[in-house]
Amino acid sequence: MKIVVFFSGAGTNLKSILDHQNQFDYEVCACFTNNPDAKGLIFCREYGINCKIINHKDFDDREEYDGVVNTFLENLNPDLIVLAGYMRIMSKSLVDNWEGQIVNIHPSLLPKYPGLHTHQRALEAGDKVHGSTIHFVTSELDAGPIIRQESFEIEPSDTTESLIKKVKNLEHKIYPETISSLLK
Ligand code: GRF
Repeated sequence: MKIVVFFSGAGTNLKSILDHQNQFDYEVCACFTNNPDAKGLIFCREYGINCKIINHKDFDDREEYDGVVNTFLENLNPDLIVLAGYMRIMSKSLVDNWEGQIVNIHPSLLPKYPGLHTHQRALEAGDKVHGSTIHFVTSELDAGPIIRQESFEIEPSDTTESLIKKVKNLEHKIYPETISSLLK
């Protein structure tokens, strides 16, 4: 089973997905990033995975950019497209072309806190629990059908930084497991 991983930043979820390839019997056939400076590129180099880098800043509009993304995907024809900290909203036409084959992981208990600053928003709201959600991608931001959601209790001592750490630890476990179960 071939998957392609999209990322824009640190790439710690990408690393975890790569680390679990053998255990879960899927193969990362390529990666994609819109950010030439993404820290996660280091993991592609370490694991010898080809990463397509296409800077969105070189394009005038989203449709044009996503047209190139679509051609990249058509050439690969992956079983699953895994968004792991990919900080671009995908256009409706791209999402429609790959309907049911794009998954995303979002650092909140959706439908709470779509978008950015989820940890800070959970703290400011005085939430008792926080967590992460894996969902199918639709053309509406962070709103597609939920595949898996895991939560933990927020401690009084928690800060934005500690929540980021806790959520990422959780994600590094549940994302590879979920990818594997979707490919069965
Ligand atoms: C994760 O917390 C994920 O939920 C969100 O972006 C973050 C990516 O982190 N979509 P990393 O780049 O995998 O370290």
